[in-house]
Amino acid sequence: MPFLRERSGAWSPVKIIAFIGSLLPFLWLIYRNLTGDLGPRPVTEMIHFTGDWTVRLIWITLAVTPAARIFKQPRLLLTRRTLGVASAAYIFMHFLLYITDQKFQLATVASEIVLRFYLTIGFVALVGLAALAATSTDGMIRRMGARWNTLHNAIYVIAMLAATHFLLQTKNDVSQPILMSGLLFWLLGYRIMQRRWREMTLVHLTALAVIAAALTAPLETFWYHFRSNVPLDRIFFANFDFSYTIRPMWWVLASGLAVVVLAALWRLRPQTKP
Ligand code: HEM
Repeated sequence: MPFLRERSGAWSPVKIIAFIGSLLPFLWLIYRNLTGDLGPRPVTEMIHFTGDWTVRLIWITLAVTPAARIFKQPRLLLTRRTLGVASAAYIFMHFLLYITDQKFQLATVASEIVLRFYLTIGFVALVGLAALAATSTDGMIRRMGARWNTLHNAIYVIAMLAATHFLLQTKNDVSQPILMSGLLFWLLGYRIMQRRWREMTLVHLTALAVIAAALTAPLETFWYHFRSNVPLDRIFFANFDFSYTIRPMWWVLASGLAVVVLAALWRLRPQTKP
């Protein structure tokens, strides 16, 4: 398995962990299938499962670069290709399951993609991910040169399309897609701030956590307002009512602050002398 090795030919532990980790949800899905644990509509359940894991894997892929920089672990960067290709594999399963759900009527599939905006967006994201996966071999990286980086920057647009598809297809409670959008604000914000300041200090990371959370709240507020016409202030202030549930903005803030705490602990750890 050459994709699990480093350039030197040695096995790469981080690549192996990323590969096994990406495979686990698939194995879990097979297990649920075999044990009849997918409820009355197994195909629909699998469409949701594979969609969720595509989003999670894209987000994890995008988290690798910040993690490698914050914790000064450049080896982590080796996992990006495995994780990116795994997200493409899950999206193909998602699409295939959708086609299965449509009883392989490809004309219906095509017209649904054209007519339903959330499917159009999903399809564009799928084509984008397919292009990135197809150009992720060493040969393609060499052949494409600088154009490779330009193409692979499309992952940011793909992630935004994926978040929009997730949000649009959710019928009632949009907590999950809002949470994922909030985490995406952090991941994109990190890149913007890192370009500006190069070295991300704990103050920068704290500001990023607050900004990502502060963008999450209005996204949720406007979403519910335009969907259900509930007054803006009522939805916004629900963020500060903890008796029923904790709104996504707080989870985004907590995740961002958890990064700050981990980064601080990492910087304080005793250094081993060479
Ligand atoms: C990168 C591309 C895509 C991503 C990341 C993605 C992700 C997702 C996610 C996260 C969900 C919701 C899962 C849940 O609610 O738990 C979902 C639902 C769904 N997606 Fe996608 N998807 C993509 C492309 C597509 C494409 C191309 C199609 C079909 C043409 C499609 C069809 C659907 C359908 C039918 C649902 C369920 C909607 C419902 O239950 O009413 N998706 N997708």
